[in-house]
Amino acid sequence: MAKKFAVVIRKGGSGKTTTTTNLAAGLSQNGSRVLMVDIDSQANATKGVGLVLDDLQYTLNDVFAGRVTSVRDAIVTNDFGLHVLPGHRDLSQTEQGMVGNPDSTYSALLAADRVIIPVAAESFTDDGLAAAMAMIGRVQQRSNPQLTVDGILFTKTDRTQFKEVLSDDLAASYAALIYPFDVPRGTHINHANTLGMPLVLYMPNHPAAIEYNKLVERIRNNG
Ligand SMILES: Nc1ncnc2c1ncn2[C@@H]1O[C@H](COP(=O)(O)OP(=O)(O)OP(=O)(O)O)[C@@H](O)[C@H]1O
Ligand SMILES: [Mg+2]
Repeated sequence: MAKKFAVVIRKGGSGKTTTTTNLAAGLSQNGSRVLMVDIDSQANATKGVGLVLDDLQYTLNDVFAGRVTSVRDAIVTNDFGLHVLPGHRDLSQTEQGMVGNPDSTYSALLAADRVIIPVAAESFTDDGLAAAMAMIGRVQQRSNPQLTVDGILFTKTDRTQFKEVLSDDLAASYAALIYPFDVPRGTHINHANTLGMPLVLYMPNHPAAIEYNKLVERIRNNG
């Protein structure tokens, strides 16, 4: 059975897109059949796996707007065999009209079984994580009781102990949800994103790629 993961946190620059493209590419490379749905009007995940927005006939926006007969019409397969429902700049506007929620990650939470929350090991991390947890709680209560948090993934970590960026309270509350690996800060990540090639494919031996592959393995093994 297909498993549906949402990579969610409102705070900008947390590593949502990078986590999504590396997880999708890593799972696909290991033989899983993956559909990456880019529900972000920046469409960075679409670009991050090498697709050119101007070349696309349809995107997720056309699915939401009912302009395609079947979702399949909008799915494209990229150079390394990943299936993608591409993002579009009008997505958040279309989505707000559908679900009446100003948060452009809302539909992802309605559709998902599990949530991955990337948290950049930087300042003001507490607010972003608490807001994400609160939103997940509201969606569980109102619409999707099956939704669970798969884990909290620290990104852009350096030599400082990454849990220290959280207050003691939050670190204690969510200790069990923090993955036993984290993605270090690495300059090549931005380069790989710009090239449209996830790091796990571009530089598989990079320390951050090794950590992303731990997430891939965990998800393959835990189902
Ligand atoms: N581990 C990392 N080390 C260094 N740079 C990173 C790392 N992860 C992501 N980046 C870079 O940080 C920026 C933000 O990452 P990303 O786009 O994945 O975050 P995001 O949460 O999707 O951001 P947004 O909220 O804007 O959609 C990008 O320029 C990306 O290349
Ligand atoms: Mg993004």
